[in-house]
Amino acid sequence: MDALVVLVLGLSCLFLFSLWRQSSGMGRRGRLPPGPTPLPLIGNILQIDFKDISKSLTNLSKVYGPVFTLYFDMKPTVVVHGYRAVKEALEDFGDEFSGRSISPVFERTNKGYGIVSSNGKKWKEMRRFSLMTLRNFGMGKRSIEERVQEEACCLVEELRGTNDSPCDPTFILGCAPSNVICSIIFKNRFDYKDQNFLNFIGKFNENFRILNTLWMQIYSAFPGIMKHLPGNHKKLFNNIADIHSFILMKVKEHQETLDINNPRDFIDCFLIKMEQEKQNQQSEFVIENLVVSANDLFVAGTETTSTTLRYGLLLLLKHPEVTAKVQEEIESVIGRHRRPCMQDRSRMPYTDATVHEIQRFIDLIPNNLPRAATCNIRFRDYFIPKGTNLIASLTSLLHDSKEFPNPEKFDPGHFLDESGHLKKSDFFLPFSTGKRACVGEGLARMELFLFLTTILQNFKLKSLLDPEDIDIVPVASGFTRVPPLYQLCFIPV
Ligand code: HEM
Ligand SMILES: *[C@@H]1O[C@H](CO)[C@@H](O)[C@H](O)[C@H]1NC(C)=O
Repeated sequence: MDALVVLVLGLSCLFLFSLWRQSSGMGRRGRLPPGPTPLPLIGNILQIDFKDISKSLTNLSKVYGPVFTLYFDMKPTVVVHGYRAVKEALEDFGDEFSGRSISPVFERTNKGYGIVSSNGKKWKEMRRFSLMTLRNFGMGKRSIEERVQEEACCLVEELRGTNDSPCDPTFILGCAPSNVICSIIFKNRFDYKDQNFLNFIGKFNENFRILNTLWMQIYSAFPGIMKHLPGNHKKLFNNIADIHSFILMKVKEHQETLDINNPRDFIDCFLIKMEQEKQNQQSEFVIENLVVSANDLFVAGTETTSTTLRYGLLLLLKHPEVTAKVQEEIESVIGRHRRPCMQDRSRMPYTDATVHEIQRFIDLIPNNLPRAATCNIRFRDYFIPKGTNLIASLTSLLHDSKEFPNPEKFDPGHFLDESGHLKKSDFFLPFSTGKRACVGEGLARMELFLFLTTILQNFKLKSLLDPEDIDIVPVASGFTRVPPLYQLCFIPV
């Protein structure tokens, strides 16, 4: 018989057996949350529109409620939707759901090291170390804020070089956040024309594009089937190998010039930890964890921030009245002659609200990064076995229509009270929440504030289109939402 037929039959039997086992076990242990009936092998793929997963989940929540189950690759994924269910899963069950469900792509490349795709003790220690090091003075004398300010200056100079002519801001806005991470990890930033820098970030950009394609979404949902098919994941793996060897080369350079009393950056801090723990056989401070953690900070910290900046400028073009108010506030609080700093933010509620609104509106990572149950969990009336995947709909909070009336409208008023002060919201969770929330939240918010204010302090944004004709509908809804391509002119003020 054809091997494929045997495979399909075998897998179907296994699947039906597991379904049966689950439902027959319901008496004592309870069962998974409800959901649409899965088909053998393909699970619930027919219920999901892979072009808009987030909307599909919202639609399903209307039928099955705030907690439901979907099957991908014959494995259950529990979805939590809406404020109460999301908060309960990510915060009240913070430890229980602190696992990371590892996409087979990262399983192959990261081998369980690093921060984003690690678990257990490795994850705890790498996460704690990264959080400490990313604090403002975590890496010795030069603060993180200074590094971001330095980059903001270079960004403005680079934009000045566009000489008022129309440009697609993607490349330049990609360089700035990458360079911030370079400065944090490798000590210094690079010139935007430096060939090593361009090669290095080029590989991340290419991988990001591959990962955000429909094909890779399906690959991740159905690795069991997909790994036998050809695809551009090979390119992805080669890029990651190159990235790792570049980082390793930098680590060697650092080892040769290390001064234990003067850590310059993330690598130095890590090497010092390695030195301190060299007696410890079980130490997590080993080169593999350094290389993959550094890689993780690039992967998690550059496209996210640069896409937010790029989408942000597009929204500012679409809403010139908002831009004008932000620029007024910059003029009166900072003026023209000194560079913006984080202390300014508390005196700039309108600008702060605008940055919040950009993040809320664009809803960059609509379905969070997939989590996993670290143990058997009794959640509400359900039983969720260890290893079950968890998806939290961040969209369901960021676009909640009670908390943010007219959620599909871009309006900084969503974050302002009657007297024009910043109005915080518990629904504002673009960085997720709980034990596994974004490690770079502080850094990202610093970059968004400093980059946007520094740009608007120095330039008038000019659109090539009438605001009404500007398209702001995202083009990709894989794991991130990306703005459509556009051009604008930066006119020095
Ligand atoms: C606008 C920018 C950013 C957004 C919207 C964002 C959002 C997120 C989200 C939603 C997660 C998943 C959290 C979860 O599983 O619950 C995450 C994880 C993570 N982010 Fe960010 N992020 C941003 C920027 C950054 C930056 C600048 C860094 C780097 C310093 C960073 C480092 C990380 C890391 C290391 C993780 C994995 C945490 C873990 O698994 O324990 N992010 N981010
Ligand atoms: C969600 O439901 C609406 C209304 O029934 C439908 O028009 C839309 O196509 C659905 N979207 C997705 C992505 O399933």
